[in-house]
Amino acid sequence: MKDAMSNPIGTPVGTEDPRPVPPSPVAADPEPADGLHPRILYNDLREWIAETEKLGEVRVVSGASWQEEIGMAAELALHSDAAPCLIFDEVPGCPKRFRVLTNFFGGKRKNMTLGFPTHLNKLELSEAFLDAYLKDLKKIPVREVATGPIFENVVTGDDVDVTKFPTPHWHERDGGRYIGTGCFNITMDPEEKWVNLGTYRVMIQDKKTVGFYISPGKHGRIHRDKYQARNELMPTAIVIGGDPLTFLMACSETPYGISEYDLVGGIRGKGVEVVRGKVTGLPIPANAEIVLEGFVDPVKRMPEGPFGEWTGYYASDVRDEPVLDIKAIYHRNDPIMLGCPPLRPPDELARYRKN
Ligand SMILES: Cc1cc2nc3c(=O)[nH]c(=O)nc-3n(C[C@H](O)[C@H](O)[C@H](O)COP(=O)(O)O)c2cc1C
Repeated sequence: MKDAMSNPIGTPVGTEDPRPVPPSPVAADPEPADGLHPRILYNDLREWIAETEKLGEVRVVSGASWQEEIGMAAELALHSDAAPCLIFDEVPGCPKRFRVLTNFFGGKRKNMTLGFPTHLNKLELSEAFLDAYLKDLKKIPVREVATGPIFENVVTGDDVDVTKFPTPHWHERDGGRYIGTGCFNITMDPEEKWVNLGTYRVMIQDKKTVGFYISPGKHGRIHRDKYQARNELMPTAIVIGGDPLTFLMACSETPYGISEYDLVGGIRGKGVEVVRGKVTGLPIPANAEIVLEGFVDPVKRMPEGPFGEWTGYYASDVRDEPVLDIKAIYHRNDPIMLGCPPLRPPDELARYRKN
């Protein structure tokens, strides 16, 4: 098997990148949308929580179990647009201050998340988003920095244990604990060398392995198929607690060949700060909460699913799917997982009420 351990800009891992770090793009004022000037007030999940606290929409819940209670509470909160976002703390059996956040996209905070005033109703918000960001997709490349809070804890070798996080069992008949719901996979096209961010569900297999399901046609699947055809390991990083804006772009359909990183930069008016993963060299957000990094073997498969899906039922049975062999876990002190499990419709990202 060939070794695919090259980083996204093509140098072997462990060697110096001879090319200069790209200059920091100059922050530009975002374009106004019909007199509105969208502005993203946060850079990461913690700053997002601080902004949401100002709106009075954060509720901390202590002592709920990952086995049942977090999933049930997430379901209950979901069905009211007025419900706050929930931060589950002191999860029994998990390290103190390891937290899970759910229901991020509701109330006034959804306007704040997208950079708009809180008085806009949903239709106005949607139109403002279209006008400001989507009519003319702006791109600003990532900005590489030497280090960041994501490297506050670097766990490798025998110490790798993905089960230590308070990953909920979201739905009664899920095939496992899904650590990846409000997550995204970072991969690089092995031929064209562009970096994709895509949200695909991620299930814990064991301490050092997670499985993930990608539907045909998704960009991450196209990358994976290419590595498989070349019989190469696919370098992959999975971001478990990213900032909500980057997560939203990672689960939005964007043109093939364009990195969602660049689109997030375009929306923010400045490049996303990234560090290079220590194992793969992939660019990972410097201020993410938790990142799993490793390789996807072209032939290895493990059972994945079922998982309660956005349709409101268990949309697939158990299937053999590719897995990520985790070589490193990075996390901030007191990490916060972003949970966005599909629940009974209308779900968090697709509520149907007018206001
Ligand atoms: C909360 C959420 C969960 C998702 N889970 C999956 C998934 O498990 N597998 C999948 O193929 N697509 C899933 N999607 C859809 C993809 O994230 C979406 O199509 C995205 O555009 C894929 O990115 P890509 O085109 O860069 O591959 C999910 C979307 C959302 C909003």
